[in-house]
Amino acid sequence: MTFVQVSRDLQQQLVLLRLHLEQPAMQFPEIWLRDNCQCPKCYMQQTRSRLPHGWNCLDTGVRLQQLSWCAEQQALLIDWSDGHQSSYALGWLKARDFSPANRARYLRDIYRPERRHWSGLEFAQIQREFQYEELLRNDETLLQWLHQLAVHGLALIRQAPLEAHVLRQLCHRVGFMRRTTYGVEWSVRAQPGASNYAYMAAPLPLHTDMPYFEYKPSITLLHTLQQSESPGGWNLLSDAFHVADLLRQREPSAFQVLSGTPVDWADIGSDKELYFHNIWRAPVINLDAKGRYVRINHSIPQRDSHFSVPPEQVRPWYEAMAMFIRLANEEACTFKTTPGDILTFDNVRMVHGRTGYDDTDHNVRHIVGAFLDWDIAYSRWRVLRNALGHNK
Ligand code: OGA
Ligand code: ZN
Ligand code: ZN
Repeated sequence: MTFVQVSRDLQQQLVLLRLHLEQPAMQFPEIWLRDNCQCPKCYMQQTRSRLPHGWNCLDTGVRLQQLSWCAEQQALLIDWSDGHQSSYALGWLKARDFSPANRARYLRDIYRPERRHWSGLEFAQIQREFQYEELLRNDETLLQWLHQLAVHGLALIRQAPLEAHVLRQLCHRVGFMRRTTYGVEWSVRAQPGASNYAYMAAPLPLHTDMPYFEYKPSITLLHTLQQSESPGGWNLLSDAFHVADLLRQREPSAFQVLSGTPVDWADIGSDKELYFHNIWRAPVINLDAKGRYVRINHSIPQRDSHFSVPPEQVRPWYEAMAMFIRLANEEACTFKTTPGDILTFDNVRMVHGRTGYDDTDHNVRHIVGAFLDWDIAYSRWRVLRNALGHNK
């Protein structure tokens, strides 16, 4: 049995719980405790969710009246000024402690692992390879792959069969695939009358896939069925969050321009039977209110000639973009996949491309592509971490 000392910080309206005298106290705001009462009137176990009735007319004036610790139940007991009684189990409280250390643990171990940005020179250190069959069989390997993708944004899978259904099988291990205007899966092959610039043998400069979608697909998978025997067809990849870090340090005004100037990304045309006209207007470097990276948009062929900004913003944008592209190319790593490889990367963060190549009668480069979304992948990461005991 754990010895627990309970007290209050009256000024800050916090309940404090101390497990060991030498350790900092756990902290719980009183109004939050009232909102998160775990009794059947306030919380529905079956749906694992808060019942909404208290919020029809929320009384923020309810105060904590009495506080005690029940050693037998190992639970915190509270009497409230409206006559309601609550109890909270120790394990439940520990997981939700508002102390800085516990919030950091929650963000790292349960929300999302921290991303590590990397330079082109660090590619050899961060690169990891996984075997296809092992990913299908082994949940721990599946988790490690998703973790690598989340932290470093890039992972190579080897020894996949040279069959069309491979990406489907792999994506179904995670959840489900993301369908787009180019289908559930798409074939990258040099074709006469190509519907997309990528479906040609020309060099494909660094880009993110589908920047013209508000909800762009967030993980790209590229399965090499046949690789070019010509000297070309090499992959290029660059961590655009690292590139943005460099720009922020070296050219802060260019960073400001690229994170503040909206650009019109567009894709107009048809693929198979579907006619489309997609536009999304957003900067190259997308930041949240705290200046953290949310997303990178970049694709030269898919940047519209419509540029809906005041004319004086145009030249500074080009100057800044020239710097961004120069840095992205300098920081790129290169390799050439072989048949059976599946290149997987974070399409929110990485820019990727390939060098030009030549097909012959007996050698036609063929890559099959598909997408997953981070919501589905992080969900699987969390479920696997729980099931495999990583959060104990
Ligand atoms: C694409 C793409 C890479 C390749 O089609 O968008 O990035 O290696 N292809 O062909
Ligand atoms: Zn209750
Ligand atoms: Zn691409």
